[in-house]
Amino acid sequence: MTDLQVLIEELHSQFKDIDDGTVASYIPELAKANPDWFSIAIVTSDGKVYSTGDAQQNFTIQSASKPFTYGMALEDNGRDAVLSRVAVEPVGKTFNAIVLDEKTGRPPNPMMNAGAIVIGDLIHGEHITEKLNRLLETFKHYTGHNVHMDAPVFTSERLTSYRNRAITNLLYASGTITGEIEAVLDFYIQQCSMTINTIDLATMASTLANRGINPCTGERALEETYVRDVLSVMYSCGMYDSSGEWAYRVGMPAKSGVSGGIFAVAPNRMGIAVFSPLLDERGHSVRGLKVFEALSEKLCLHVFDCCYPSQT
Ligand code: DON
Repeated sequence: MTDLQVLIEELHSQFKDIDDGTVASYIPELAKANPDWFSIAIVTSDGKVYSTGDAQQNFTIQSASKPFTYGMALEDNGRDAVLSRVAVEPVGKTFNAIVLDEKTGRPPNPMMNAGAIVIGDLIHGEHITEKLNRLLETFKHYTGHNVHMDAPVFTSERLTSYRNRAITNLLYASGTITGEIEAVLDFYIQQCSMTINTIDLATMASTLANRGINPCTGERALEETYVRDVLSVMYSCGMYDSSGEWAYRVGMPAKSGVSGGIFAVAPNRMGIAVFSPLLDERGHSVRGLKVFEALSEKLCLHVFDCCYPSQT
């Protein structure tokens, strides 16, 4: 067995019995997740795949979708137009905090819900169905296969989106979004309801590690020029009010989701994903945080680590 395979199997058995945290239940359908699910996957930027645990278990991507839609909005509109609608400032607040610039109505960053909702509005498409088809196509490039939306999770979130609906209304009132409110909200919930597994998420991460090209299929998912924008906001804002501590301890651009997925990118080296639905009070997978800290240490993945040989 290769070293990476041995390493992730060791970490899986080291952390599998941790049962701190709770499964998200504010979206009722998510409460059905099995708290024991636990998987780790690595896809290297030359396309080698390593996985362990429940790596084939499907789950909805939730907020881990936000970097990918941000990439789509950048491709559709360019950097300046996107920046004029969504800033790139970390704010140290939770994912659904209501923080909009008083004068411009701009959300602070595209990793928080408010920012992601505006990003969805910026994605081109005549109708919500055209946008959804473009989203499905983008996910196909990142994962290498067709991806579907989980209809029960979508419906469950739609019926309980009190806060996100309020945020979308505020964004409309301030002129930050121009699309029809329910359609903009639906698109956001649809992106959160995309169904993937841990290997898919690691493959998506490895595509960002590989300058926007899926290393397993050779297909481009994101223009190279925008990869650094996506990774920058993931690094500064991807873990919400834990972004600073994550940058300090793990040191990789990353994004989490309330279904229990976390992915991180080691540029030019690999994409990594962990799935375990038990979440801490900030909404991040408890086992996921442990695995990433350990992997960062053992593989010298921290971007400011001096132990990884220079490539120059
Ligand atoms: O906006 C929501 O409530 C969810 N659909 C996504 C939130 C999420 O994943 C937060 N991240 N940890």
